[in-house]
Amino acid sequence: MRTPRILILGVAATALIGAVSTGTAPSSRSAPQQIPAATTTTTTLLTHPGKILAGNCFQCHGTDGINGTFEGIAGESATELYNELKELQTTTEADEAIMKVHANGYTDEQLRLIADYFSKVPTSVRK
Ligand code: HEC
Repeated sequence: MRTPRILILGVAATALIGAVSTGTAPSSRSAPQQIPAATTTTTTLLTHPGKILAGNCFQCHGTDGINGTFEGIAGESATELYNELKELQTTTEADEAIMKVHANGYTDEQLRLIADYFSKVPTSVRK
């Protein structure tokens, strides 16, 4: 009589597992499918040492350099951004006066971090 008991237990356990997975399948399956891409990117950007420095830029260029009052700077190459910021430090153009002040507020190392941060914001979310 042992075999049937084990069989019954096995069937019952399988049914229980099946019921539990069926019951939770829709929400637990759809959530991880949507989250990974965003989470991977966000986690990288959240821990990036340039993020706190770049926060000042968000005020005009938008959060993460997207959708701001002024032009988007997300996804530009880090070298280009850095070089632009260095040029802006000594600009004599009147319409670049705002950026001249901002670019002069950081050390070269900080500008590199800021440029690197914005370069890593995915261009797919840039608007
Ligand atoms: C008070 C608003 C303001 C803030 C804050 C600000 N910017 Fe700007 N930024 C502007 C304006 C306006 C322009 C366009 C005129 C110009 O080129 O100076 C500009 C232009 C730029 C440009 C050149 C244009 C381009 O698309 O490449 C870069 C690069 C830039 N900003 C980066 C930054 C970074 C990095 C920070 C943070 C350290 C920052 N900005 C903070 C207003 C701002």
